[in-house]
Amino acid sequence: MAEKPLVVVARNIPKASLELLKPHFQIDYYNRSTPIPRRDLLKRIKTASGLLCLLTEQVNAELFDAAPRLRMVATFSVGLDHVDLAQATRRGVLVTHTPGVLTETCADFTWALLFAAARRVVEGDRMMRAGKYKGWDPLMLLGTDVYGKTLGIVGFGSIGQAVARRTLGFGMPVLYYDVQPVFPEIEKSLNARRVELEELLRESDFVCLHTVLDSSTRHLMNEKRLRMMKPSAYLINAARGPIVDENALVRALKAGWIRGAALDVYENEPKIASGLARCANAVLVPHLASASRETRDAMGNLAAASLVDFLVYGRTPPNLANKDVVPDSKASFTAAS
Ligand code: GLV
Repeated sequence: MAEKPLVVVARNIPKASLELLKPHFQIDYYNRSTPIPRRDLLKRIKTASGLLCLLTEQVNAELFDAAPRLRMVATFSVGLDHVDLAQATRRGVLVTHTPGVLTETCADFTWALLFAAARRVVEGDRMMRAGKYKGWDPLMLLGTDVYGKTLGIVGFGSIGQAVARRTLGFGMPVLYYDVQPVFPEIEKSLNARRVELEELLRESDFVCLHTVLDSSTRHLMNEKRLRMMKPSAYLINAARGPIVDENALVRALKAGWIRGAALDVYENEPKIASGLARCANAVLVPHLASASRETRDAMGNLAAASLVDFLVYGRTPPNLANKDVVPDSKASFTAAS
């Protein structure tokens, strides 16, 4: 029987997803909860046909050079900013990601962040644990109402729109900024209006970021734009850290250019900007937006299924990111029976 193709799995993944891979591949499993050291990855990938990686692995020319037999990279993320898609396409390597399965979960979490910041949930929790609660006080930990306020959404793709759908119960008008307008029927059903970024920043009580990270969105929220926001407004970022100039945000939080922020992602993850941890008006969580059991299983299964689809059955997976890729027919791979 032909030898099974080798797939490197660069981090611990849900058990069910690993089980999907097992019958079809030899698996080199980096079964840890911290990123695989680069040197280790480059060594393991030498004879691999497939790689299942995360957003912590840079998938670039260096990696492709180290992996002459590589035919598919399945990233366990919807974001692709860690992948050089043009390089992958040039080398005939298919790249898949995990769109769709995490949309609603990330939208839920954006609202968790928004409420946590607006209603000071984390500060209240800290007070309780520190034994500092001395009884009900009409002026204690006053937050900001959410109902009826204006929500600004920067990046109105599937997650941005899922966030907007949730405003309907909160009577919130939506302003959105995106290069691409959505259909008028969608705008109407969401009470959403497309505006320029500056208008969105000036008018919104909550600004949620849902753009991809690329050269046009890096530091989109810089000092100038943070200063455009209302002093009573909040910034929510569950997209990508570098969309915000984090040092400028620390100044904004300290000086009161805005009232608060809630961050799931950071400019130099896992590090955070100096002074951010001391900002009581910031809710800080460790990149959890898609972190529900159901969604992480679905992400892992989608990534695993795309490897099986292509490397075993030669089918083009529906979640292919580089749709114009022409698979390298010279690469040696053997379909498992
Ligand atoms: C997480 O940030 C993802 O891109 O899936």
